[in-house]
Amino acid sequence: MFNKIFGKFSKDIGIDLGTANTKVFVKDKGIVINEPSVVSLNTKTGQIIAIGEDAKKMLGKLPPHILASKPIVNGIISDFEVAEKMLKYFIDKIHQDSFTLLPRPRIIIGIPLDITEVERKAVEDASLSAGAREVFLIEKIMASAIGARLPIADPVGNIIVDIGEGTTEIAVIALSGVVTWRTLRVAGEEMSKNIIQYAREVFNLLVGDKMAEEVKIRVGSAVEQKEPLSIDMRGRDLITGLPRSVTINDVQIREALSRSVKQIIDGIKSTLEVTPPELLADIFERGMILTGGGAMLRGIDQIISRATEIPVRIADDPMTCVVRGTGLLLEDMQLLKEIAIPSTQEEK
Ligand SMILES: Nc1ncnc2c1ncn2[C@@H]1O[C@H](COP(=O)(O)OP(=O)(O)OP(=O)(O)O)[C@@H](O)[C@H]1O
Ligand SMILES: [Mg+2]
Repeated sequence: MFNKIFGKFSKDIGIDLGTANTKVFVKDKGIVINEPSVVSLNTKTGQIIAIGEDAKKMLGKLPPHILASKPIVNGIISDFEVAEKMLKYFIDKIHQDSFTLLPRPRIIIGIPLDITEVERKAVEDASLSAGAREVFLIEKIMASAIGARLPIADPVGNIIVDIGEGTTEIAVIALSGVVTWRTLRVAGEEMSKNIIQYAREVFNLLVGDKMAEEVKIRVGSAVEQKEPLSIDMRGRDLITGLPRSVTINDVQIREALSRSVKQIIDGIKSTLEVTPPELLADIFERGMILTGGGAMLRGIDQIISRATEIPVRIADDPMTCVVRGTGLLLEDMQLLKEIAIPSTQEEK
């Protein structure tokens, strides 16, 4: 009864709790938050110093008593208290902006395919204690497919690959359900690590995470580029201990990234191998869609297409597909009820 009254005044929201970025969609408004999933804390007092964009800026530059924490690892909550605080901060931020009197929203939140019951409960509990009135859990990959406008409810096979920061999720979807899937611990973070390792081995240069990510985004590719690309990569010389900069080009970065790219392709192939033939036929005809930030790696669509002989398309704004999918579900209660994962809360 009270829920009904409260409901009228609060904005329902959809959340993608990503390893790299938390995105929040508010009904009737769109995406209002897209910020790094980072919190910096004072370890002496337990006090939060910064959350989101502000906290990410501090990464790698903090004094010893301040800890930058990433509460989401591979799409799963690794630090419950910090994750809850981060969620609460984002939810409060939305409500401050929209002057809502009674900020108790209904929340749709995406979870990975390979989550355990305990981890699932952690997401639900964190959302509830961050202020949700009701929580709907859905598979992130399903939300991503909806956000990319795949006809998930049709009796045809659709294949989607979401390359995020911590994980790559590969799923074949038909009739509103995931038929076959694979989760890989190889995605954007691993690609950045490949660059760090390459710099160490080839240039004796120690490169930080942020520099490696910048190099990946600015000159990274999976296939040969028409125009050569290069960038100055700064770090610390491992022999002299002093700062040094080297110029690295797209051919070198491609070599560094090739291992991760191959692992993603192998993951897709092994998912196809266990997919029923009727659905495979649909997939060969209709193609594959890529979502997640990693889909923006230059030429990743081409190399996957060459390796699998399936047409590949990158979704529009691939990084926000999951959260836009939750946004569409806020408008479609029937579909939401159909695909929502049963609550871990006991029946009240
Ligand atoms: N142009 C680009 N080329 C390659 N990678 C990119 C590009 N832009 C962003 N990325 C990478 O995309 C990743 C972030 O994507 P996204 O926001 O989809 O991840 P996430 O949802 O937070 O993570 P996960 O789904 O694994 O929990 C980061 O690793 C980032 O470096
Ligand atoms: Mg993601």
